Amino acid sequence: MSEEIDKSKRHFLTVATTVVGAVGVVMAAVPFVSSMEPSARTKALGGPVDIDVSKIEPGAMIRAKWRSRPTWVVQRPPAVVAELPKINQRLRDPDSSEPQQPSYVKNGWRSIKPELFVVVGICTHLGCTPLYVPQPGDPSVGPTWPGGFHCPCHGSLYDLAGRVFKNVPAPLNLPVPRHRYMNDKVIRIGEDPIGSHSSWKEPLIW
Ligand code: FES
Repeated sequence: MSEEIDKSKRHFLTVATTVVGAVGVVMAAVPFVSSMEPSARTKALGGPVDIDVSKIEPGAMIRAKWRSRPTWVVQRPPAVVAELPKINQRLRDPDSSEPQQPSYVKNGWRSIKPELFVVVGICTHLGCTPLYVPQPGDPSVGPTWPGGFHCPCHGSLYDLAGRVFKNVPAPLNLPVPRHRYMNDKVIRIGEDPIGSHSSWKEPLIW
């Protein structure tokens, strides 16, 4: 089932957003950020990218790019966050023991604010882009599906915190990039929170 159908079934919205590069501001009115990327110079430099999350709807996912990587922000309602610990036994690394994220998001929901999840959309098996399938029990995955990300290439599954399930090809959780809140509306991808002094090194595979 396509991702578009998945989203329409649940009445989730993928909202248009504003992505602000280190040089220049680009506005757009479509949900896919190919037209909302920062300048070529910013991308070439691998500089930080700012994402406006002020208009994201509950359950929606913003798609941006950072260092040419698909980089997403998911708005998780409190009820969704509350469900995350209940499937820990089905996951390969529920406590984020592997270095797939900076230390300040090594928690049960893998984010700074529980409701806003930032993740790089690169499958840790062979690098495909997973589909966002937030609907629990979605028939494209199965009746016990809690909602999350489904890689169409070889079937790897991740929950709504990007934690990989057992018995799938992918070995690791989806990576969480460095990020910090510039204010209540804007998340900057590519920088640690001020004062965090993270010594974390991003894995080379992503
Ligand atoms: S690349 Fe995702 S399951 Fe193989």
